[in-house]
Amino acid sequence: MTPQTGIDLTNCNTLALPGRAARYLKIADPAQLTAPELAGERRFVLGGGSNLVLTGDFPGLVLHMAIPGRRLAGEDADAWYVEAGAGENWHDFVQWTLTQGRPGLENLSLIPGTVGAAPIQNIGAYGLEVSERLHSVTAWDFQKQAFFTVDRDACRFAYRDSLFKQQGWHLDGRIAIVSAIFRLPKAWQANCRYADIAQELAAQGIAEPGPADVAAAVIAVRRRKLPDPAVVPNAGSFFHNPVVSAERAAALAAGHPGLPRYPQPDGRVKLAAGWLIEQAGWKGKDLGPVGMYEKQALVLVNRGGATGADVRRTMAAVQAAVRDKFAVDLNPEPVFL
Ligand code: EPU
Repeated sequence: MTPQTGIDLTNCNTLALPGRAARYLKIADPAQLTAPELAGERRFVLGGGSNLVLTGDFPGLVLHMAIPGRRLAGEDADAWYVEAGAGENWHDFVQWTLTQGRPGLENLSLIPGTVGAAPIQNIGAYGLEVSERLHSVTAWDFQKQAFFTVDRDACRFAYRDSLFKQQGWHLDGRIAIVSAIFRLPKAWQANCRYADIAQELAAQGIAEPGPADVAAAVIAVRRRKLPDPAVVPNAGSFFHNPVVSAERAAALAAGHPGLPRYPQPDGRVKLAAGWLIEQAGWKGKDLGPVGMYEKQALVLVNRGGATGADVRRTMAAVQAAVRDKFAVDLNPEPVFL
């Protein structure tokens, strides 16, 4: 279990950006993490690389999480508890739960990445966030040299945010998630609140969808709107949807009819970054080898041969265009390494 040196990471990030890890170790078993020599090094814990902007060579140790496993961990009157290793591919795991007859994650079909990465930014799509199905997360703490388990409440989940994103944790390689348990309620109801999914099911003539129908609808909508990273390198939504005060949203809407607004439980209003970017003229526009996708303006794409510096340039230009037109700041969703 000696790390390899000078490993090319281009194929380990879905934006296909070039960069080398000074040292690289694949982690297929949680016990590997306990080796004392790993604790002293600068580290980055890598999952599927689908939420990552590689800005160049990384001078430390990349731990590539490949811990396998998926099983029914328990059951009570109300729910199944399904556990998966951090290295499992997220989409494959979701489809497996469906074939096992344990639905509840179908709205999150086809999201790129791994099970271990899902809780970090609380992945969400089509009316569901993973926090709504998460039971607990087990991780290794390199500083304390101990495994720990946190339940859902302690994970402090919010929109694309969690305990794991706090200062000094994930980004600084302090913790490595090794597994997660999901709570899948036995009383299943189709979640078709999201307009795109309702429309897709209606178009297919499905009035009473089952879990597989919802999964198929989500997959169809995603394929239509979002580029496949294997074909057009990307990292999904590149910016967070900005959340502003109700007053600010009302003032913006007065000047910009058609502005999508999503009221939040705390009284603030979420705006659609994709809409703002499109209105600012960036949908389908490129700067050098990096642009914003023609079918979904929120997705930044590598048209071929881009570097992290090219990504930064396009990101800054898009942020400036949206700031000029709307006086709204866009913050990137991916981690920069
Ligand atoms: N819109 C435009 N132009 C565009 C894109 C979007 O006008 O180019 C408008 C849409 O018409 C709609 C609104 O913006 O009125 C919202 O668009 P959409 O429903 O496509 O969702 P989104 O807010 O752009 C979010 C998540 C996605 C998730 C989808 C579906 C964020 C940052 N993104 O996108 O998550 O798949 O909803 O639930 O919250 C990801 O995080 O990587 C991701 C793909």
